[in-house]
Amino acid sequence: MTKPLRIGVAGLGSVGAALVRLLQRRRADLRARTGRDITIVGVSARSRRERGLDLGGARFYDDPAALAASSEIDLFVELIGGADGAAYDAARAALSRGVPLVTANKAMLAAHGLELGRLAESHGAPLAFEAAVAGGIPIIKTLREGLAGNAVRRVSGILNGTCNYILSRMETEGLPFEACLADAQRLGYAEADPTFDIGGFDTAHKLAILASLAFGAKIDVGAISIEGIQSITLADLAAADELGYRIKLLGVAERSEKGIEQRVHPTMVAKAAPLAQTMGVHNAITIDGDAIGALTLVGPGAGGDATASAVAADICDIARGDVAPAFGRPIDALEEAERVPMQRHEGGYYVRLAVVERPGSVATISTRMAEQRISIEAIMQKGKAKGVTANEVVPVVLLTHATTETAIREALALAVADGAVRETPQVIRIERD
Ligand code: HSE
Repeated sequence: MTKPLRIGVAGLGSVGAALVRLLQRRRADLRARTGRDITIVGVSARSRRERGLDLGGARFYDDPAALAASSEIDLFVELIGGADGAAYDAARAALSRGVPLVTANKAMLAAHGLELGRLAESHGAPLAFEAAVAGGIPIIKTLREGLAGNAVRRVSGILNGTCNYILSRMETEGLPFEACLADAQRLGYAEADPTFDIGGFDTAHKLAILASLAFGAKIDVGAISIEGIQSITLADLAAADELGYRIKLLGVAERSEKGIEQRVHPTMVAKAAPLAQTMGVHNAITIDGDAIGALTLVGPGAGGDATASAVAADICDIARGDVAPAFGRPIDALEEAERVPMQRHEGGYYVRLAVVERPGSVATISTRMAEQRISIEAIMQKGKAKGVTANEVVPVVLLTHATTETAIREALALAVADGAVRETPQVIRIERD
């Protein structure tokens, strides 16, 4: 049998603790699969408090970078999180010594993925990050290896378990946003700062990684248009239900002759679509490839055990010496692709307006839409239809046929300036395929 693989684990939060338990529980099977014992010889965490974990003889390091640079380890697992600081220092310490790095850190990869990929290449050290996107779903391996024979046109998905959990519970139980977020935090789904989840940034980090793998392009998180779910109300969820849709926070990356469009926003998804049927903490990703057609993977997108499962898969690959380039090809072979700004996005829109009750309000709105060549597919007044007094506001929901982001924003800004609409209109994009 080959000599044991000695690993160092930095970060003993819900994923780190689940990984320690998984490697113990699955020890014999992992040895049979890889031909080696996988042993944790060093750990690092913010405090030495008792965690109920059997860490065997593993040495404790206060400084994760010291663990990463230690000659006692053959592989470093980074589960600290955060784009910079301790995680980034430790990642560089490992790779620059030629030590393989396994990380779940999507924020760090979105910000520094190319630099870390280059460091890995120049020191001949594997860099693996299956756990960085969609928790337990093996989406990285699928895109990087399983679909290598495809030209990918589009990747779209629910990439944040916390947001999907919140939207699902608001929709099915009518609970307020804050209560659902508090539960997601209690269950260990949310980021340390949940703004990353609900503001769409975590989804954007993951989308940037997927777009790079799917299109063979350099990571460009700065080019992603990002909107979170904070403005979604129970009224929007109820209107979506009535119209045959569910509201999901989607990350979408699409390649066309114009370039690559990358966007994160709440989206109306037709109830029959696999993404709409993905509820709770589950994530789902649909990939459109020229050879395979559409393929959807669904599974747990957050949580200790699911994410540890993905970390363990990377550890096994490295233990066997089965290592693919981090982004599917050498870093210098990744394209500098043109990015398409959100203003040029074309699609249908759901709009919820607080319309002022007076003759001509709806006519003004339709005129502003017509001026922008926007065709209205459906319009409905929500709430009470009778007994509304002059100048009171009435909620009105309308759906448009395909138009551009610029046109819809312009039409609505003018309708507000005309005094036909009060408050900021709610605008949600519709995905029709
Ligand atoms: N906070 C993330 C989520 C964890 O909710 O999806 C997994 O990356």
